[in-house]
Amino acid sequence: MSKVVNLLVAFLCCTAFSGARGDKLADVVLTFSESALASLLDSYIDPPPRKTGFETLVPQQNIRLYCTKTSPPQFQEVFFNDVDLTKKINFTLPLTIAIHGWRDSSQVFNNLTARYLKFVNNTNYCLLDWRAYAEFGYQITARRSVPLVAQQLFAFLQMISVLYFPLERVSLIGFSMGGQIAGLTGKLLPGRLGTIYALDPAGPLFSHPIDIGPTRRLDASDAKYVQVIYTSRYTVGFGKLVGTQNFLSNDGYHPQPPCKSQGGTLNDLANVLRCSHQFAVRLFVDTLDPANEIYGQKCVSVLGSRVCWSAIYPKDRLGIYAKR
Ligand SMILES: *[C@@H]1O[C@H](CO)[C@@H](O)[C@H](O)[C@H]1NC(C)=O
Ligand SMILES: *[C@@H]1O[C@H](CO)[C@@H](O)[C@H](O)[C@H]1NC(C)=O
Ligand SMILES: *[C@@H]1O[C@H](CO)[C@@H](O)[C@H](O)[C@H]1NC(C)=O
Repeated sequence: MSKVVNLLVAFLCCTAFSGARGDKLADVVLTFSESALASLLDSYIDPPPRKTGFETLVPQQNIRLYCTKTSPPQFQEVFFNDVDLTKKINFTLPLTIAIHGWRDSSQVFNNLTARYLKFVNNTNYCLLDWRAYAEFGYQITARRSVPLVAQQLFAFLQMISVLYFPLERVSLIGFSMGGQIAGLTGKLLPGRLGTIYALDPAGPLFSHPIDIGPTRRLDASDAKYVQVIYTSRYTVGFGKLVGTQNFLSNDGYHPQPPCKSQGGTLNDLANVLRCSHQFAVRLFVDTLDPANEIYGQKCVSVLGSRVCWSAIYPKDRLGIYAKR
């Protein structure tokens, strides 16, 4: 198997050298088995990801929710069976929960948090911290952590809905594997959530090498409205278009405009991929300022040329101000 991985690495490397676009890279990724793809992703992680001890973690202690209902923010931990819930969450305001990805933490949302609370200030805003479960290898995280974290978040949302909090007022913002957690959570509720913003949701083991299907990964039916922003399709990001609305920056493929290769080494390629992946968060954060408008326009291919008739095909704003 390591041979297979080396081959892929060599290919990734060379296509990056020759400046080939991400869709070429995507063609290669599709030919790999799940475990080969997962191992490839693990091989970029230094120190290597955790392999054992999944069972020793306790969900109630290792999945945490920090919420603020004020601007400037004052985050407080909210427990999944919190007796002070009504003091920590203002039930008359909407609720937004941001969910980080694999080998990541809520720090990835530092800019998001600051700007969300500045521009969408009448809201409860929470960060879901599942770091302990995100430290495992890619396959364990995708197959075991993601459903478990979704189960925990589902239980919390179920509880607040029983306390008469309308789930239509809940928005989940998930980056990478956080986008998959958002989807699975929505599925458990089934479809009662208001909104999911999936920022370049994770692709490996969800959409490729094979699509595991709408009952096990993000889908448009997971909330009343699902917006997906694609920035690294079929490499680290999800491939298939699965949102109610899909925004494809640079056709959704790596490399994104600011993510230029510096030299062509393997590490460099990993950094460029990471940059393209995170570009989805950047786009979403940039558009939180109502003055900053980024539009998506639906186009079709006619005899090999791209046709974008704005009079016929829908056009909408990326981010929270989309007309839907
Ligand atoms: C909850 O939010 C409403 C609307 O902004 C506000 O009027 C009210 O004072 C808030 N309640 C608490 C307890 O902060
Ligand atoms: C956060 O915003 C600052 C200033 O715009 C920018 O330099 C930085 O790269 C951003 N960080 C992330 C993680 O996007
Ligand atoms: C709340 O958001 C509105 C709309 O963006 C803005 O005009 C106002 O200044 C914000 N208030 C605070 C306290 O940040």
